[in-house]
Amino acid sequence: MAGTRGEFSSRLGFILAASGSAVGLGNIWGFPTQAASNGGAAFLLMYLLMAFLLAYPALMAELIIGRHAKANIVSALRQVSNTTFSRFVASLSGFAGIITASLILAFYAIVAGWMIAFAAGPVMGAAGQEEVAGWLTGFGHGRNLAFMLIFMLMTCLIISGGVQQGIEKWSTRLMPLLIIILLALIAYVMTLPGAMQGIKVYLLPDFGRSFNFQLIVNALGQAFFSLSLGVGTMLVYGSYVSKTENIASLGRAITLIDIGIAVLAGLLIIPAMYVAQHNGVEIFDAAGKLIGEDTLIFTVLPALFSTMGDTGIVVGVAFFVLMTIAALTSSISLLESPVSYVTEVHGLSRRAAAFLVSAVITLISAIIVFNFGDLFVFVITLTTRYAQPLLGLMLCLFAGWIWHRNHVLEEIKAGFESAEQSFFWRIWPAYIRYVCPVVILTVFGQKVLG
Ligand code: TRP
Repeated sequence: MAGTRGEFSSRLGFILAASGSAVGLGNIWGFPTQAASNGGAAFLLMYLLMAFLLAYPALMAELIIGRHAKANIVSALRQVSNTTFSRFVASLSGFAGIITASLILAFYAIVAGWMIAFAAGPVMGAAGQEEVAGWLTGFGHGRNLAFMLIFMLMTCLIISGGVQQGIEKWSTRLMPLLIIILLALIAYVMTLPGAMQGIKVYLLPDFGRSFNFQLIVNALGQAFFSLSLGVGTMLVYGSYVSKTENIASLGRAITLIDIGIAVLAGLLIIPAMYVAQHNGVEIFDAAGKLIGEDTLIFTVLPALFSTMGDTGIVVGVAFFVLMTIAALTSSISLLESPVSYVTEVHGLSRRAAAFLVSAVITLISAIIVFNFGDLFVFVITLTTRYAQPLLGLMLCLFAGWIWHRNHVLEEIKAGFESAEQSFFWRIWPAYIRYVCPVVILTVFGQKVLG
């Protein structure tokens, strides 16, 4: 082991860092666009159910294992295992988690780079640099590569600063800023004509649509992605939490913040679409469906901003800065998962490990940039559709079946003396043992077969 491990300096520091990991492009882009294309409130409702009933218990499994083992995902899973076979499965799952985290970061950095480019685009346009602005907001290998590199460098520099001087320091600076920008944008959009129609679409549920199977699958996937589950990021953040903290209440806070921000982002994006429609921007595709995904973020919203004159420049920059901040506090947690492994198991210094791992991920990311059509969607599907739910399942199995129940209780009791009598302890152990694995397997099985 290389030196002493880091620890978050305070409860608030951990909450901001872990919710910074959770709140990312998944909340501000993924959730609202999925909601827009899946019947608004119908999706919201299912998402809330999946997040509270499945993702929160799985998050707790990661946090508890992490804080107990005080180690990276591979060492931590090995520590809670007591047979040769379970230790082997632990190593396998741990490595799979680290590789998945790296692959997620490889595509995430490309998308995050677009956000920086789109924040700079309108500024260049306003400065009369039309050509530069066109390059920034047009799709191309050069642009994609350049901004991915910038974003990876920022991520790497923060992680090389360590737990307190890197992760905690930047999360504490950026998260409040994110919330302020988000609230300001919502307040502004609400004053515009058309916004109320968007609110209705978003908040008035059509319950009939909630119980569509594909919608449930999407909501579960979204919840797992949003809470950063399965790849060791939450586990390793949990490993930096002091034994004097009540881990159950910390997990609850993170879940609530994550869900809260997703719901708020919906309150920004969906009304903004209807404002765009009011201003003459097309928001339905040829099939009559609400436009979603990348077209929504990179075509509809910029079109909306450009109908708003000078104010539109400020609003557009604020929006893409918001996206960049959200992405950065998430990408650092993705990088921390492999970096913690390399420092603790291979004895590299944090700085060396951060640069080495970043270099490898940047290389993978560059390969995706140059083979975009073949690899981009493939890597996203592989990691978020398949690897993440399966790894989430493995973590539930470790917490529910492999690790001894008394040891689990002991760990929760550190910082939460009355844990044994708590509602949490009455429900969670059986939940993580039976309900989570069965539901994840059912949904996953349907997805693979169907
Ligand atoms: N949760 C982040 C988001 O919503 C992304 C993220 C960070 C993530 N760490 C993760 C996703 C680990 C999956 C696994 O954008």
